[in-house]
Amino acid sequence: MDVTFLLNGTQVSLTDISPTTTLLDWLRDERGLTGTKEGCNEGDCGACTVMVSDAVGHRALNGCILFLPQVNGKHVTTVEGLAAPDGSLHPAQEAMITHHGSQCGFCTPGFVVSMATAHLNGARNHDVQLAGNLCRCTGYAPIIRAAEATAEQPIPEQLLSITKHTPASRMPSTEDLSSLTVQPTSSDALADWYAAHPEGTLIAGATDVGLWVTKQFRDLGPVAFLNYCSDLYGIVETKDELRIGAMTSLTEFEETIAARHPSFAAMIRRYGSVQVRNAATLGGNIANGSPIGDSPPALIALGARLHLRRGDTRREIALEDFFIAYGKQDLQPGEFVEAVSIPNQSDRLRCYKLSKRFDQDISAVCGCIAMGLEEGRIAQARLAYGGMAGIPKRASAAEEVLTGAPFEIETMRRAMAAMKDDFEPLSDMRASAAYRMKTAQNMLLRYFHEVSGAETDLQRVQA
Ligand SMILES: Cc1cc2nc3c(=O)[nH]c(=O)nc-3n(C[C@H](O)[C@H](O)[C@H](O)COP(=O)(O)OP(=O)(O)OC[C@H]3O[C@@H](n4cnc5c(N)ncnc54)[C@H](O)[C@@H]3O)c2cc1C
Ligand code: FES
Ligand code: FES
Repeated sequence: MDVTFLLNGTQVSLTDISPTTTLLDWLRDERGLTGTKEGCNEGDCGACTVMVSDAVGHRALNGCILFLPQVNGKHVTTVEGLAAPDGSLHPAQEAMITHHGSQCGFCTPGFVVSMATAHLNGARNHDVQLAGNLCRCTGYAPIIRAAEATAEQPIPEQLLSITKHTPASRMPSTEDLSSLTVQPTSSDALADWYAAHPEGTLIAGATDVGLWVTKQFRDLGPVAFLNYCSDLYGIVETKDELRIGAMTSLTEFEETIAARHPSFAAMIRRYGSVQVRNAATLGGNIANGSPIGDSPPALIALGARLHLRRGDTRREIALEDFFIAYGKQDLQPGEFVEAVSIPNQSDRLRCYKLSKRFDQDISAVCGCIAMGLEEGRIAQARLAYGGMAGIPKRASAAEEVLTGAPFEIETMRRAMAAMKDDFEPLSDMRASAAYRMKTAQNMLLRYFHEVSGAETDLQRVQA
């Protein structure tokens, strides 16, 4: 496969590359650009952070789980590309020195690239912007002070000019669909290729698939990169629904859903990190069939529908019916996710993500609850949970108790008891079965108190 991109302002054209070469490996092994570090090699630490720019904007991404074809046609900026041509440091580099933000220095390039990207984007919530960068020696206070100081400085010319040099986005230089490695530019082309190669692997944001390569050393066989399928992007609002293309990143989705269902958006802000959310797609988060993916329970609680395509045949199913059993989805060979749609509705959704760490952690339990109230009674109830079964699953027995009953605490307690008929959770490294059941039940209590006007968010309790 051939790939062309700009690296720190200079064009790079590579021919016949292995499509699953990661950007991190290539930078370090082929270019000697060792400022970009390898820490975890699985998207967790941010030591490998690079900035990827195109006409859409600038994004911090983890280079360790970013395959070279994913930067085709983009501009990649590494830590070596931040200083001015005369050697003057970027404000983030200066600030890290001034505010003592570095000790051993291993994490520092990743932090600096995250800061420089946030600075360029005008993003000032430093806790959010830097949650994907881990430091094990300095402590975060000096680093946050450095980010705050950076935000007060003007954007240096060398970064402003990146947009001017960025090639037209989302267009690969070539498209050869007879190959075993392809980067189609439309879902029609993807459908043809996948029908011919149903054994192939689709690569969307690679936040799962990347780890199959870096941790499991899997040979992926024929691969299709979806990042140039222009019609798989985009969010369309109609009078009935919100239709979200499968390639929509979690970052883009969060921005849109915030206006309709703020609790959903607040949960997504705890999904991985900025770097992960910039890469991960909504389609990938559904298609991977994970029982602990964060978006499916919320989407199921909202009554979302899934749009699937195989060749020229399209079908639409309720999202909850997609998940059949652990590792088994209602997806035929050669079939892929085109979009997901959420019916328009007034906001009653609350999402509760429970994980050991606040940021950058997979859910132990994710409970999403939506109840329609009419004259003090529960007219409709949809409860969907992740982490409670082998698939994201509705709590049907609890829903039955709730539907038609008065919206009061006694009803919640009866539904909590009924939930024992809905789930038999497992014990694993994230939580015990008993803890999962208890916390899933208690989410109903929390919902009741929250909707009744009580303050339940511990982050907002002030001393
Ligand atoms: C550090 C880290 C933190 C994470 N934190 C979270 C978290 O907090 N919450 C959470 O839910 N997940 C989390 N994840 C998991 C991951 O981000 C998600 O599952 C992600 O949404 C997958 O999307 P992707 O676009 O990266 O998919 P990919 O890795 O590209 O693909 C995943 C799977 O879906 C298939 N696929 C992708 N798109 C389609 C399509 N359109 N049609 C059919 N099949 C398709 C692929 O073939 C593959 O089997 C985390 C991952 C990492 C590395
Ligand atoms: S090396 Fe840890 S996120 Fe890439
Ligand atoms: S300075 Fe050592 S890991 Fe951050």
